[in-house]
Amino acid sequence: MKKHKYFEIKDVKFRKAKPSDKATVFDFCQKTFGRWGDYISEVWDQWLKDKKGMFFVADLHGTAIGLGKITEHRPGELWLEGLRVDPTFRGHGIGRAIQDYTWVKAMSFKPKFIRYATGSYNKISIHLGRSKGMKIVATNDEMWCKPLKATETKLVPARPTDADESIALLKKDSRYKLWKGFYLEGWKAMTLDETLLLRLIKGKRVYVYFDQHGLSGMTILVQSKDKKFVTFSNTMGRDVKTLQLVLKEARKLAGMLEGQKPEMVFPRDHWYKKVIKGTGWRHTLPIWMVLLEWKRK
Ligand SMILES: CC(C)(COP(=O)(O)OP(=O)(O)OC[C@H]1O[C@@H](n2cnc3c(N)ncnc32)[C@H](O)[C@@H]1OP(=O)(O)O)[C@@H](O)C(=O)NCCC(=O)NCCS
Repeated sequence: MKKHKYFEIKDVKFRKAKPSDKATVFDFCQKTFGRWGDYISEVWDQWLKDKKGMFFVADLHGTAIGLGKITEHRPGELWLEGLRVDPTFRGHGIGRAIQDYTWVKAMSFKPKFIRYATGSYNKISIHLGRSKGMKIVATNDEMWCKPLKATETKLVPARPTDADESIALLKKDSRYKLWKGFYLEGWKAMTLDETLLLRLIKGKRVYVYFDQHGLSGMTILVQSKDKKFVTFSNTMGRDVKTLQLVLKEARKLAGMLEGQKPEMVFPRDHWYKKVIKGTGWRHTLPIWMVLLEWKRK
C-alpha cells in the first residue's frame, strides 16, 4: 500500500550531521536491518569527528529524516555508507535525493573509485547504485564460528619484513582472482596493495603461518574497539590443507582474543564453501554481501 505523502521533496534540505541529531537518528535506525538492528549508534561519534569525508543528514523542517556518509579511505578511493531514511518517510524519493546529493559531493573529491556494499536482497540500494553507473564487482559470503578455547596458536603477527612474502603468497593463491583485488574489512572493501598491506602489518592486524616452505598462510584480523567482536578476512593458504589449518588456527586466535561470534568474509564461491567445510566455520546467513563500484574511465 502506498503511504500517504505529507511533505514536499523540495522542503528536504541537506546539512552536516550534528550532535543534536543523535536521538532522532538513533530512534529511526533502531530496526533498520530487522533483528540485526543497525550499527549507526556504534559509529556515530566517530563519523561526526571524521575529517576525511562527509557525514550529512536530510533535514525536513529542522528534523533529520535521513542520512548519508562519504568516507575517503585513501585519496581517490571513496566509500559510501550509512544511507538511511526514516521508515515513516520511505518510498517518496528521499533515498533518491540522498543518493543524488551524495554523488555530487563524492564527485567533488575527484575519485578514481566510488564503492559501497549492500545486502543481496536490497533491490533499492542496488538500483540506486546502478542508476549512477555503478557495477556489481564482487559478492562475498560471511561465515561465523564458535571460538576455540586455546592458550596458543600457530599464527603469529606478521612483521614489516614479511610484507613481500605475504604479497607473493596472495598473488600465488589459486583463488586470488576471486578476491578481485580487495581487502575486505567486514562489509567494507579497499584496494589491497602493498601500501595497505604494510599499514595493516604495522597495525598488528596481519597474522601469518610459517612451515618448512616459509610463509604459507595468512589472515587479517579486525577487532572492534570494545574488543567484543573479531572478524577475519583475506585468509589464504599455500594449498587447501594449509588454508584449512589457518582457518582452525583463526578459531583459536578468536578464542584467545575472547571474540564472541567471530566472523570471516570470503568470495562467494563454491570452492570456498567446500574447503571451509569441517573447519568449524559456518555459513548460515541467507543473504550475502554485494559490492558495487564506480570506476573513473
Ligand atoms: C534504501 C532506502 C534509503 C531508500 O529510501 P527511500 O526514500 O524509500 O527511497 P526512494 O523512495 O527515493 O526510492 C529509491 C529508488 O528505489 C526505487 N525502488 C523502489 N522499490 C524498488 C524495488 N523493489 N526494486 C528496485 N527499485 C526500487 C525507486 O523507484 C527509486 O528509484 P528512482 O529514483 O530511480 O525512481 C531506505 O529504504 C532505507 O533506509 N532502508 C534501510 C537502510 C538501507 O537499506 N540502506 C541502504 C544500503 S546499506
